[in-house]
Amino acid sequence: MTATPVAATDLSNLDLFVDGPPWAAFDALRRDDPVHFNPEAPPNKGFWSITRHADIVAVTRDEATFSSEIGAVNLEELDADQLEIRRSMLETDGARHFALRRLLQRDFSARALAPYETFLRGLTATTLDAALPRHEFDFVAQVSADFPIRVLVRLLGIPDDHAGQLINWGNRMVGNTDPDEADVLLDSPESEEFRNLPFRSPAALEVFAYGDELARLRRGGDGDDLVSKLVNRVPEDGKALSERDFHNYFLLLVVAGNETTRHTISHSMKALIDHPEVFTLLKERPGLLAKAVEEFLRWASPVYHFRRTATRDVELHGSSIRAGDKVVVWWASGNRDGSVFEEPDRFDVQRDAREHMAFGKGGPHLCLGNQLARMEIRIMFEEILRRVDAVEQLGEVRRVRSNFVNGIKEFPVRMTGV
Ligand code: HEM
Repeated sequence: MTATPVAATDLSNLDLFVDGPPWAAFDALRRDDPVHFNPEAPPNKGFWSITRHADIVAVTRDEATFSSEIGAVNLEELDADQLEIRRSMLETDGARHFALRRLLQRDFSARALAPYETFLRGLTATTLDAALPRHEFDFVAQVSADFPIRVLVRLLGIPDDHAGQLINWGNRMVGNTDPDEADVLLDSPESEEFRNLPFRSPAALEVFAYGDELARLRRGGDGDDLVSKLVNRVPEDGKALSERDFHNYFLLLVVAGNETTRHTISHSMKALIDHPEVFTLLKERPGLLAKAVEEFLRWASPVYHFRRTATRDVELHGSSIRAGDKVVVWWASGNRDGSVFEEPDRFDVQRDAREHMAFGKGGPHLCLGNQLARMEIRIMFEEILRRVDAVEQLGEVRRVRSNFVNGIKEFPVRMTGV
């Protein structure tokens, strides 16, 4: 295969991602053009790609120069109205961001989540009890999609049988560039009608209506679920959540707690199939799993990128970034940076992979759910490795057509176990 010259690498081209992450393109960018200007089809105006680990940390740390608030956090270009209407904590800087985050921060700490360990283990057992007797099944449908959302359902205090609906909403929103998933494709003229909705997806309206009904029932009560906390707590800056703040916060939880953990579990399972010696090692030494989870996350890189917007003109490695330019940090590329991870293309569950950027790195928006996600992945694999004796892949995986999530939507497997 001939290598694409770095100047011609176009990370906005979704075809580059259909067979998996474009690792060779990331390698070349890190090596030859770590602050690469990537033109886009009009009306979009192009973006800077930041691909080295150290630069990504520097950009995400420097909120004053690289803002989440003055532009979107993905590649879409929003006008001021759209931005205001669609703003969640992800698109908020400074003190207000801090206050919004603090509203639920303690609830997502390792300490607050520890009591859920037994519940999560029970849930994993139920998932595997249903899947394993089938022997041959789709790992995504039977295992990885179901589990994270059932956890979220419990945290939100909603009935278990609403899980399927939440999965459906998440798929339709995050899959907005995939014809199999989206109601209307992000770059289609039809999406104009939904321009004020997150992901330009009509599914967002259903999520808002669902959230409203929960809020109505929980307001003024003393429930300890996340919705009750959102509607009954006042942020530390004293400014109560508006209806719009609530909508966007609720939607963010539904989206964030859904796909990312699912894809990490799927990619990790695939890595264990592709590296049977690691499957055997972890079966024999389950004590290695907590450390292995960090390598699972590095390897999976389930979120490809997030975006910031430059607030002033700034030079980086000789490139002149102008105020207002889009600056995209490619977490997936940072996860394969050889200056941080020795032999980065080797799956090595015994390495210290804690510098991975799956949850972001170094900045104020570091994933709020990272402890929950880590716990879910660890418990899922503790149970899989305890119960499954042999596993093989039965056909090709089908991937989500996206340069935002590194997702697997179909993954046929055969599993033997109890
Ligand atoms: C493996 C699973 C997950 C991955 C890879 C992941 C990844 C990320 C990334 C990359 C960010 C943005 C970081 C930045 O821009 O600096 C983020 C933010 C966020 N994540 Fe996660 N996430 C995961 C699971 C979860 C879960 C389970 C929840 C909650 C139920 C969650 C809630 C959030 C929230 C609320 C934010 C916004 C934080 C802020 O703006 O301060 N995530 N996540």
